Amino acid sequence: MSVAPAERPSWDWAALAVEDLPEVLAIEEAAHLYPWSEAVFEECLRAGYRLDGAFRHGELVGYSVVMAVLDEWHLLNLCVEPTIQRSGAGRFLLERVIASARAAEASCVLLEVRAGNHAAIGLYESAGFADIGHRKAYYPAPSGREDARVMRRLLS
Ligand SMILES: CC(C)(COP(=O)(O)OP(=O)(O)OC[C@H]1O[C@@H](n2cnc3c(N)ncnc32)[C@H](O)[C@@H]1OP(=O)(O)O)[C@@H](O)C(=O)NCCC(=O)NCCS
Repeated sequence: MSVAPAERPSWDWAALAVEDLPEVLAIEEAAHLYPWSEAVFEECLRAGYRLDGAFRHGELVGYSVVMAVLDEWHLLNLCVEPTIQRSGAGRFLLERVIASARAAEASCVLLEVRAGNHAAIGLYESAGFADIGHRKAYYPAPSGREDARVMRRLLS
């Protein structure tokens, strides 16, 4: 059920590090059908990608992973703990990504999303992302493969 705007909690935000990975992985495994492994998160940190967390009452409730390539920011993962979803944490994290990208003078934020992920697509569209491409059979899925939508939010 959606939380009414007046009841929406406020969120804190912080950069995450390798010691936060157990909490990140617990959320990843609860929220994704095909979760990233710990090794993937470790590699992201090693490569210098941004791993940022949203907190409520000091507890990690979601995170974003961003790879900056020149002036393009690629949102590689955005995830909110299932029992907290639809409370505004995803939008909070996405707005932080967009604000950080703008502050770094990036030209755009790019992402890929499962064509059937209506929750994520609703969030991205409401944050100004638009389709720029389509990748056929891009993701594994329980019955075969699923297409990806490639979406972009221009920042200029
Ligand atoms: C996608 C995800 C990050 C959204 O996070 P969230 O905290 O639930 O989203 P918010 O509460 O901030 O919702 C923001 C907007 O997204 C859309 N939205 C979110 N959940 C939705 C749902 N279940 N159905 C339809 N729209 C939804 C709505 O437009 C919503 O705005 P509204 O509440 O004012 O109507 C979250 O559902 C998630 O972690 N899913 C599993 C992982 C995943 O699929 N990540 C995206 C990979 S590309």
